[in-house]
Amino acid sequence: MNHDSNKSWYEASLLELLDCIEQSHQTVLDNLIPVIRRNIEKALTVDKQYRQMLTSLNDVFSLFADEIESHFAREEELLVPYIRQIDWYDKNNGDKPQIPLNSLTNPISQIEYEHDITENTLLKTMRIIASDFKAPPDASSWLKSLYKGLEKLEQTIHEHIHIENDILFPKAIQTEMTVLHGK
Ligand SMILES: [Fe+2]
Ligand SMILES: [Fe+2]
Repeated sequence: MNHDSNKSWYEASLLELLDCIEQSHQTVLDNLIPVIRRNIEKALTVDKQYRQMLTSLNDVFSLFADEIESHFAREEELLVPYIRQIDWYDKNNGDKPQIPLNSLTNPISQIEYEHDITENTLLKTMRIIASDFKAPPDASSWLKSLYKGLEKLEQTIHEHIHIENDILFPKAIQTEMTVLHGK
């Protein structure tokens, strides 16, 4: 299964989707964000003519990085274990597990609100500040790499949010309804 094929993700099981989501969190936190942070720091020392733009970009990027880190933590501490529990219960007989949430609908609304802020405020602002990630001809290789990294980050987050909002969450809500109410 690969990230470019929406069709295959629509056919994926809840457990496959959760694995994909957790892997993607790790890629963003351990790989994409640190490389972008290093490239901003280098570009700030080299591309002095773009210092003002880079300072603004750095401010928004720092907000983004803090927000996405706590967002991923909330998903992994609350939603992921709960969805694994309802999936387990859906497949196995026995006593209902102790379910910590009354319904997935409330925490998912909050998570979707956070997705909206991330996409429509933070990512969009970085794209505007960085002129659609088109590096000027006199940009250093750090600045060019920075723009490539930001574009890759934007694409990864859009895809990630699409899988959560449009595939994982509706499937989890459906499974929860079956498990709790037999609908
Ligand atoms: Fe996520
Ligand atoms: Fe998310």
